[in-house]
Amino acid sequence: ADAVAFFGPHQAGIVTPAQDRLHFAAFDVIAKDRAELIELLREWTAAAARLTAGHDAGHFGAVGGIPEAPPDDTGEALGLPASGLTLTIGFGPTLFRDADGRDRFGIADKRPAALADLPAFRGDALRPEISGGDICIQACANDPQVAVHAIRNLARIGFGRVTMRYSQLGFGRTSSTSRAQATPRNLMGFKDGTANLKAEDTELLKEHLWADAPDGAAWMTGGSYLVTRRIRMLIETWDRTSLGEQEAIIGRDKGEGAPLGKAKEFDEPDFTAVGKDGEKVMPMEAHVRLAHPDFNGNARLLRRGYNFVDGSDSLGRLDAGLFFMAYQRDPRKQFVPVQRSLAKADILNEYIRHVSSAVWAIPPGVSGPEDFWGRTLF
Ligand code: HEM
Repeated sequence: ADAVAFFGPHQAGIVTPAQDRLHFAAFDVIAKDRAELIELLREWTAAAARLTAGHDAGHFGAVGGIPEAPPDDTGEALGLPASGLTLTIGFGPTLFRDADGRDRFGIADKRPAALADLPAFRGDALRPEISGGDICIQACANDPQVAVHAIRNLARIGFGRVTMRYSQLGFGRTSSTSRAQATPRNLMGFKDGTANLKAEDTELLKEHLWADAPDGAAWMTGGSYLVTRRIRMLIETWDRTSLGEQEAIIGRDKGEGAPLGKAKEFDEPDFTAVGKDGEKVMPMEAHVRLAHPDFNGNARLLRRGYNFVDGSDSLGRLDAGLFFMAYQRDPRKQFVPVQRSLAKADILNEYIRHVSSAVWAIPPGVSGPEDFWGRTLF
């Protein structure tokens, strides 16, 4: 009952109402040629179809095989339901042409223009070892064990053909991707995901989310593009900031999530109001103003990020923040201009550091059991 359909024109895990948990993995491909890569994608797709339906990764399962061989499922999800698991694959720029300029899989001429490398942004503190990657898989589920089990089994299947470059666990969705969901809160304590593209916005999704043939790469029709950024929050500094200052930085009030100067979460912000007598209005450099479509050539994003806390660092500060994920039709026209505005002026920058970055082409959905992830590319 809690299984999300795997097959369809678009991959699941994009407009699917955001689940509570994330395990995101970025892989480097070491498969020696195109045939080996395609074989892996076929095996991964078959496993993903099984896993998302709540089954074991392989036909025999965790305990059904012969005792002389390693099981074709690792077993930690035995007895757990599908838990809304979605598995979403993406291809990074280096899959098309690696750092040495090699076209390892004969697909360099298929690289979509929209899959351009992201430019450097002011304030970036990127760590190369947790940035980029040839292939990503986003696992989202309502049970962390189910999401981790899926990534672990896909990595196991990929042994000898991919290596894990980095992975990120996330909890507490920081976005609503459906109007049926209440808006959750990020680790700064603010509602996050109020002004987001949502599953019900069919016309807007066509315009701002789904790639289409006229965009240039016909194989991407029905796909999308994903930008991932691990954003560390300087939590301790934030926690010593006054409530009024916090609200001015975001541009919304902390309790209700209403735009400053308005009463309700879903009221439209007023960017022209001038405050008198201590009345709260939207500051010029508020995050929601700088990120708003009106000031970024109508750019919209489907944000689908997660909170993370990876313990604490050597100075005793929480290693915590937002694993930002945003889907869109063309990052050159959406993420890039928005992040440029934010990098330039956002007061939030004093409290955050972008430490990893990647951009991915998210191919269209898998049509049925004969189809496989990325078939249209090959
Ligand atoms: C809105 C927090 C980074 C783009 C918001 C809101 C909050 C928030 C609380 C208001 C609620 C909402 O409408 O969802 C944060 C935090 C960040 C972060 C804590 C970093 C740790 C980013 C980045 C981008 C971005 C990197 C894109 C480059 C947006 C957009 C909106 C928004 C487009 C909606 C603006 C509107 O139309 O009203 N963010 N954000 N945010 N944020 Fe962020």
